[in-house]
Amino acid sequence: MKPGDLIQRVKFLDDATPMSVWRREMWKTPALIVRGRYEGIVTTKTDTGQLTTSVKSVVDVMLNGKLIQKVPIECFERYEGPPPETSSLVTGLLALINADCLSYLASLPSDSIDLVVTDPPYYRIIGEKWDKQWETESGYLEWCRQWTQECVRVLKPGGCLYVWGTTKTDTFLRYKLDVLNLLPELIYQNWIIWAYDWGGRTKKKFPRKHEDLLMYSKGPTFKFNDHNIRIPYKMAKNVRAGKENDSRGKIPTDVWTMNNHTTSKEYCPWHPTQKPIKLLQRIIEAHTDPGDSVLDIFSGSGSTAIASVNTGRQFFGCELDSSYYEKSLLRIQELTGIKKI
Ligand SMILES: C[S@@+](CC[C@H](N)C(=O)[O-])C[C@H]1O[C@@H](n2cnc3c(N)ncnc32)[C@H](O)[C@@H]1O
Repeated sequence: MKPGDLIQRVKFLDDATPMSVWRREMWKTPALIVRGRYEGIVTTKTDTGQLTTSVKSVVDVMLNGKLIQKVPIECFERYEGPPPETSSLVTGLLALINADCLSYLASLPSDSIDLVVTDPPYYRIIGEKWDKQWETESGYLEWCRQWTQECVRVLKPGGCLYVWGTTKTDTFLRYKLDVLNLLPELIYQNWIIWAYDWGGRTKKKFPRKHEDLLMYSKGPTFKFNDHNIRIPYKMAKNVRAGKENDSRGKIPTDVWTMNNHTTSKEYCPWHPTQKPIKLLQRIIEAHTDPGDSVLDIFSGSGSTAIASVNTGRQFFGCELDSSYYEKSLLRIQELTGIKKI
């Protein structure tokens, strides 16, 4: 390599830097390219015989022609060795990574995402270890504050943030009042109820059969493609007013009953809190256009990824649990038709 040569592949020097996540993608995808020119030549050999060359420059990390990250001077080096162990899937419309949400978020540029739809752990509701990571509710809420603030940073002005939760306990209410409501850029817009009527039920009181979905916009105005999500009126004519109803149909209310019943093709038996893909598609089509970006930092079984890809949106996301992550890749493959995983 000589000064002025084009850099094609890089490995980041410091795994602790936010940019480290991108390191893993370099080997997987032709869609992700790193462009830049280096000026310095400092070549060293590692213990394992790999050749690395430090670079002094700024490079652009591009995904599908879009600038993802400007990497500052001396943050990376050329890497000429075997591909590192990888846990990421990046194809045309999909960038899903096996990573912690906070380190993944730190790798994303500000104001770059059109829509965030995410479903965090709920704090001691589900009998899985991922829901019991925090000693106290205040520790959990502090963690929520960190990733929520990061989601707002990466969201474009005019973008929307949807967060799933449950009112089985009051934790989600405190998350709304003490976290979401205190972020100055966020404007509260909707509280959507997802209601369903299956599964085990108590006989001692009315069975709780709904989950909650809060929507905030970043700034007062946001995209709402009502033409994408209208549903038919029950009757063609409004009897009281004596006139035809709007032939385009009506906008659904904030109570949704779409389901992913255990007999449906999309149902996956290995994730306890999967969300219906059709419902996610409604959200995505309401607030984005094809080609726009959707982020889910708690990807789980990959439901948001599937809904994004199937509506032609660019999905970005992560999931910490490697077993869920690996299984979700197969589910995504099956339900989106993406072939190469
Ligand atoms: C409520 S579930 C999401 C389910 C998802 N909406 C679906 O449809 O499958 C929360 C997910 O967050 C993951 N998780 C927990 N802590 C995480 C972290 N720090 N970073 C990323 N993912 C995490 C869990 O493993 C779990 O799969």
